[in-house]
Amino acid sequence: MATKKKKTSKPKKTSPKRAKLHGEVFFPSKEVIAQANLKDWDATAKRAGKDLEGFWADEASELEWAKPWTMVLDDSKQPFFKWFTGAQVNIVHNCIDRHLKTYRKNKLALVWESEDGKEERSFSYFKLNREVSLMASIIKSLGVEKGDRVTIYMGRVPEIIFAMLACAKIGAIHSVVFGGFSVDALQGRIADSASKLVITCDGSYQNGKLIELKRIADEAVAKCPSVENMLVVRRTGQVVTMQPERDHWYHELLESPVAKERFPTEVMDAEDPLFILYTSGSTGKPKAIVHTHGGYMVGTYTTLKYVFDLKDDDRWWCAADPGWITGHSYIVYGPLLNGATSFLYEGGPAFPNPGRWWQLIERYAITVLYTAPTAIRGLMRFGEDWPNQYDLSSLRLLGSVGEPINPEAWKWYYTVIGKERCPIMDTWWQTETGMFMITPTPVVPLKPGSGTRPFFGQEAEIVDEQGKPVKDNEEGYLVLKKPWPAMLRTIYGDPDRYVQQYWSKFPGKYMTGDSARRDEDGYFWIIGRVDDVIKVSGHRLGTAEVESALITHPAVAESAAIGLPHELKGQAIYCFVLLKPGQTASAELAEELRQHVAKHMGAIARPEEVRFVDKLPKTRSGKIMRRLLKARAQGLPEGDLSTLEE
Ligand code: PRX
Repeated sequence: MATKKKKTSKPKKTSPKRAKLHGEVFFPSKEVIAQANLKDWDATAKRAGKDLEGFWADEASELEWAKPWTMVLDDSKQPFFKWFTGAQVNIVHNCIDRHLKTYRKNKLALVWESEDGKEERSFSYFKLNREVSLMASIIKSLGVEKGDRVTIYMGRVPEIIFAMLACAKIGAIHSVVFGGFSVDALQGRIADSASKLVITCDGSYQNGKLIELKRIADEAVAKCPSVENMLVVRRTGQVVTMQPERDHWYHELLESPVAKERFPTEVMDAEDPLFILYTSGSTGKPKAIVHTHGGYMVGTYTTLKYVFDLKDDDRWWCAADPGWITGHSYIVYGPLLNGATSFLYEGGPAFPNPGRWWQLIERYAITVLYTAPTAIRGLMRFGEDWPNQYDLSSLRLLGSVGEPINPEAWKWYYTVIGKERCPIMDTWWQTETGMFMITPTPVVPLKPGSGTRPFFGQEAEIVDEQGKPVKDNEEGYLVLKKPWPAMLRTIYGDPDRYVQQYWSKFPGKYMTGDSARRDEDGYFWIIGRVDDVIKVSGHRLGTAEVESALITHPAVAESAAIGLPHELKGQAIYCFVLLKPGQTASAELAEELRQHVAKHMGAIARPEEVRFVDKLPKTRSGKIMRRLLKARAQGLPEGDLSTLEE
């Protein structure tokens, strides 16, 4: 990357398009262009634009299929799109089995370091196959069949990856619940998916503290009759209660005859579900997004290959948690599909000190770092001295995901971490999209805070309430116009909600739930969610979930949760609470309610502030007007109040 150029800069011979772009633009350097696998972005975009199915069929052909497809895209039953119909494949075959026939057999697939820095474990593709086979045979011995759901609730240890791949290998559908969630969130997700098996750990480490995963799982499973078995991986060695018959130590089963180092990979139909992943929606309880073996495989493989321009000698580090879609697509599946070496770190960015991540980059010679703006903002706070103590020269690319990155954080990341050499891939996408949707590749000129343009084959648009495209630079709803292989297929158990939520407001177009604007250069700028979803430190939470947790407290009659801008977290949760008669508002009670939410949902959902009110603003039909609470809290115009009850 060259130094930043304003529009006043003179166009250079090497890039005649330079002068055309508006605002602050960072152009790729000659070195970056020389390294890039894909040099001509425009030509590929044009090709995919003209022949969407041809583009994706070519990408799919780079992977191995047990049976080829008869149709690339079946859009006859919209919005229930199907991809690679007629084909048979198992994503694990392409993540692992395929590589065993090549030199990659002995290449490192995964490198892991513990939070305390005392343990390091690494796995070649060959060894990964052994681990996944062992786990698959054990899961199968616990009565799990193709199509059964398995809930995975673990810390960031290699076994979480083995568990996901083992489920996929035998055709079971995994449902990973983020290890930072607590009882209510876990229980709701196990119950909704009717999981037969729960895989957990005795505990996990979080910033030096012990999290009691098994105890939380016990509490959640107590109310979930579908669960027949619990498989427990020992990580911390803490004391846990094992329920006879139901609970099994993983290390004990590994020593038993059921464990097999070689185990077959089940052949699946391309459209068979691979996993479900719960995410917060605009209303009600979280919904389970369904992804499939075939399309999701092709989508994650292709996007990671082009956007992060993967090379054989890369050390890829996606610093998300495997429990979120970012971890599914770009810690687990995408890197393995590409035969890459991935790094997984157990802990968080600033423990035991704010130099920890930078130390890991030096120690493992990380070449690409992909993380969220919240982490960048958090580390930026501690100053340049921390990163400057470490050799970060191995880095060649950086990435951002999960929320808009403010230009200040972008520039710090670019300058202090990337030393002005490493382009930042700001990737916009969602649990539902499964893969990057609006994103640059390394050769695309960047504007801090913009994910640039849609990925190959995609067209995005900004529309008004009526679905009409708005003018350049005007804010509106962000919609996607073309189907893509990794698109969600439905909401598990609720196809009507799938249609209603994503395809009804603007028929024929996928409604993202985000507001955005497009500038005169065709670059997209995400503004934020238009629904009741809050992004706290990049984590997606629903106001309804927080409110449900609050209402379980005996003092609470009613509550409303909203997200307000927060300097570090992007957004933070604010709650307005109406107490039951006889209850008295106090600072202590407010604190108790904050802790109550954290205990029930997980620390990430702990409200920033709880305020007591006498009344909540409601529409005549009884819905809480969160929009009004939000406007009032920020001193912004209150907008149309015609539906407000007196
Ligand atoms: O609002 C957008 C924001 O995150 C939402 C999707 O959240 P989730 O399903 O948890 O997936 C996050 C990781 C893929 C989007 O609707 N978002 C995601 N990436 C970006 C973003 N906002 C701005 N810039 C991004 N790069």
